[in-house]
Amino acid sequence: MLGNMKILAGNANPPLAEAIAAYLGEPLTRCHVRRFADLEIFVEILENVRGRDAFIIQSTSFPTNDNLMELLIMIDALRRASAQRITAVIPYFGYARQDRKPGPRSPISAKLVANLLTRAGADRVLTVDLHAGQIQGFFDIPTDNLFAAPTMVRDIKERGIAENAMVVSPDVGGVVRARAFAKRLDAPLAIVDKRRERAGESEVMNIIGDVAGRNCVLLDDIIDSGGTLCNAADALIAKGAASVSAYITHGVLSGGAVARISASQLTELVLTDTIAPTEAVRVARNIRVISIAPLIGEAIARIAKEESVSILFD
Ligand code: R5P
Repeated sequence: MLGNMKILAGNANPPLAEAIAAYLGEPLTRCHVRRFADLEIFVEILENVRGRDAFIIQSTSFPTNDNLMELLIMIDALRRASAQRITAVIPYFGYARQDRKPGPRSPISAKLVANLLTRAGADRVLTVDLHAGQIQGFFDIPTDNLFAAPTMVRDIKERGIAENAMVVSPDVGGVVRARAFAKRLDAPLAIVDKRRERAGESEVMNIIGDVAGRNCVLLDDIIDSGGTLCNAADALIAKGAASVSAYITHGVLSGGAVARISASQLTELVLTDTIAPTEAVRVARNIRVISIAPLIGEAIARIAKEESVSILFD
C-alpha cells in the first residue's frame, strides 16, 4: 500500500529524491540531516514513522564517506523510531570497485559497506547498475539491482542513432554488460582491447570488430577520470567510426574529467542522474543527463505493493 510509505532523502542528491517523490506522488518526509560544528552528522526525523514502510534515497557518491555516514545514521534514526521496514535506496553504490582483494593485506570495502548497512538496520537495498552483480551476494537482505539499460536504449532510439549503431565495450571487463545492451538494441558489438606488450611501454588499443562508418555507442557503468572513455573514443575514430557517443550510468567524474570529456572526440556523453550533476557537467558542451527517477520510483512503488520488480528489467 503506497499510503504506508515514507520517503526520506539525505544530502547526496536532492533533485533525484524530489523527482522520485514526484513520480510516486508522495511528499518527501520532513527531516533535518545537518552537521554539528565539528562536522558530526545529526539527523532528526520530523514526522511520525512508526509502523511505516520507509525508503531512504541516498547515493554514496562524493563526498562518499559523508554520504555513507548520513545514510547509516538515517537508518539508525528510522529503526529507533519504529519504522516497520527500511529500504536503503542507493542509486550509486560507492566502494563497489573494491569488491575483491587485489593483493595481500587489502580490504574488501564493498563487503564492509554491506555489513555496515545491514548492522545499522536496513531491511532491503535498492540500487542501480552495481559495478559487479555479485555484490548483491555481499548482503544477506533482499537487494534489487536495477538496470539503466532500458532507459538508455529508449534514449538512443529517440535520438535516431539506433539504425547504424554499434555497441562498444571500452574494455574487456565490460563485455558482458555491453553484449546484453547490444542485444536489447539489436546492434552488433565491438570491443576495445587494451594491451601493454611490455612493462613501461604505452598501451596499445586494438579494436575487435569493424567499426568503420558506424555510430559507435560506448557503454560502461562508471566514468571516473574519463581516461578509459576518451582513449576508446580516439581509437574508434582512428578506425573510421562515423561518430562516438557514450552511455554511462554513474558520472563519478573526478578531477579534470569534465574538461577531458569536453576536449575529447566524443559527440556526446549521456549520464544518468544517480549522481547529482555538478554545474560543470550541466554546462559541458557534450554531456547530457537523463533521469532514472521513473525507474527507481516504479521500483519503490512495486516493492511497497509487494509486486514483482523484474518487469523493470525488460
Ligand atoms: C572499471 O572497471 C569501470 O567499469 C570503469 O571502466 C572505470 O571506473 C572508468 O574509470 P576512468 O573513467 O577513470 O577511466
